[in-house]
Amino acid sequence: MTDKILVLDFGGQYNQLIARRVREHHVYSEIKPYNKISVEEIKKEGYKGIIFTGGPNSVYDPASPHYDPELLNAGIPILGICYGDQLLAYMAGGKVESAENSSEYGKTMVNLENNILFKDIPSMIICWMSHTDYISALPEGFTKIGYTDKCPIAAMFDESRKLYGVQFHPEVTHTEYGKQILYNFIFRVCDCSPEWKMESFAASCIEKYKEELKDKKVLLALSGGVDSSVVALLLHNAIGQNLTCVFVDHGLLRKNEADFVEETFKGKFGLNLIRVNAGERFLTKLAGVSDPETKRKIIGEEFIRVFEDEAKKIGKINVLAQGTIYPDVIESGKGDSAVIKSHHNVGGLPDTISFDSIVEPLRDLFKDEVREVGEKLGIPKELVWRQPFPGPGLAVRIIGEITEEKVKTLQDADAIFREEIAEAGLEKDTNQYFAVLTNVHSVGVMGDARTYGATIALRAVTTDDFMTADWTRLPYDVLAKASGRITNEVKGISRVVYDITSKPPATVEWE
Ligand code: XMP
Repeated sequence: MTDKILVLDFGGQYNQLIARRVREHHVYSEIKPYNKISVEEIKKEGYKGIIFTGGPNSVYDPASPHYDPELLNAGIPILGICYGDQLLAYMAGGKVESAENSSEYGKTMVNLENNILFKDIPSMIICWMSHTDYISALPEGFTKIGYTDKCPIAAMFDESRKLYGVQFHPEVTHTEYGKQILYNFIFRVCDCSPEWKMESFAASCIEKYKEELKDKKVLLALSGGVDSSVVALLLHNAIGQNLTCVFVDHGLLRKNEADFVEETFKGKFGLNLIRVNAGERFLTKLAGVSDPETKRKIIGEEFIRVFEDEAKKIGKINVLAQGTIYPDVIESGKGDSAVIKSHHNVGGLPDTISFDSIVEPLRDLFKDEVREVGEKLGIPKELVWRQPFPGPGLAVRIIGEITEEKVKTLQDADAIFREEIAEAGLEKDTNQYFAVLTNVHSVGVMGDARTYGATIALRAVTTDDFMTADWTRLPYDVLAKASGRITNEVKGISRVVYDITSKPPATVEWE
């Protein structure tokens, strides 16, 4: 078994980032909400170390997350970060206080003492702080190993029990040497071995499924997105033609996308792939519908019906494969947030296909790890580094009723915008970019004649997690070129606008 680190989640916004940072050091890490795992379970799992995340709370608030202090005596090294640091102090019998003038937010200079946690790091670094409460008295057995102007105990440790706490956030890039601090904890304190590597993940996954799925008929809904593509190739390498991929083209994909997916998986890799051209079927169902949620529901349901129809033709299926990834699996320590849109992922679980079990080969991986596996398997870069594309496709980018003509118009405008971003070498500078066909018409002039055409909105966003996003400051000349080409080359478009709204208050997609 490879070494692993537990990220015990107390509701901090950086919980996934912490786990990813640990994995970047090639050590497996998993996130568990503090209220879903007991000390006994933690001991049984055999973690080599634990990281307490931050959290929005104050340790003296009875409603704030707490944990059984017995964990401190379990013989497992712990690193507390921000709220996790204060909680560690509180659990060990120290004192945490709140004072108005003690709060620190943003880049702060911190002084560090000579300690294994700060090995190979200067004694003064810039760190990222975000706190109001602070530790005012050390717990017994602890020593102070860091301080700032306002925070008397910015880092502490108990050598005998290997308990460490830092008030700042080593996981964010604003903290200098943050990576080294995590390295020191993982390798020098916890003594982990760096064995979590994507080459070996792919190889062992293929070996495992060769055995586990031997002589089984496996079905996968392939969307052409990164996750289902990687699952397809992993399983194809394991069981070859016993894997059947059903690719439903709902007619709302981007320009030439369906052909590209088919050529890649059927042509290049020789997968057993069934492409279903269901565009007409979807358009018929969507006729006259303009409400965004209704569109989403219709597409979600129809997708499952089409998929079921195909599955029935195949006959007996033993296993259904899915492209679930780790962020879909993680439960956060925070409460449930409100549903803003009913997200639909192509490949949702159909209810009338009978199968014996489900496999989810990517259940433990973050998106960047999935991409890395994809690259190792030789999937083309355009697919592996593809920007996210919503399950309902262009349906949520055509405002109002959807028609075949509108789909074609949007596909053409969107393709031009993407070409111009690629041409300018900006693909890596923006996380998602696309065109929207609005239902606003406006007066234009072409030659000497008056026109009255539709408006295309261009959208490009910069984001880490798509929960919040800023609009990308694309260079004016790139926007100018895209606008010029769209109005010239796409029939019926007389105006192009650029969306300069962040999320919140807007969402990334228009519907
Ligand atoms: P929003 O519009 O909610 O989008 O700010 C955030 C991210 O999610 C994508 N998105 C979807 N993905 N099914 C998906 O698989 C959906 O129904 C869906 N709706 C939005 C969106 O493209 C963005 O990346």
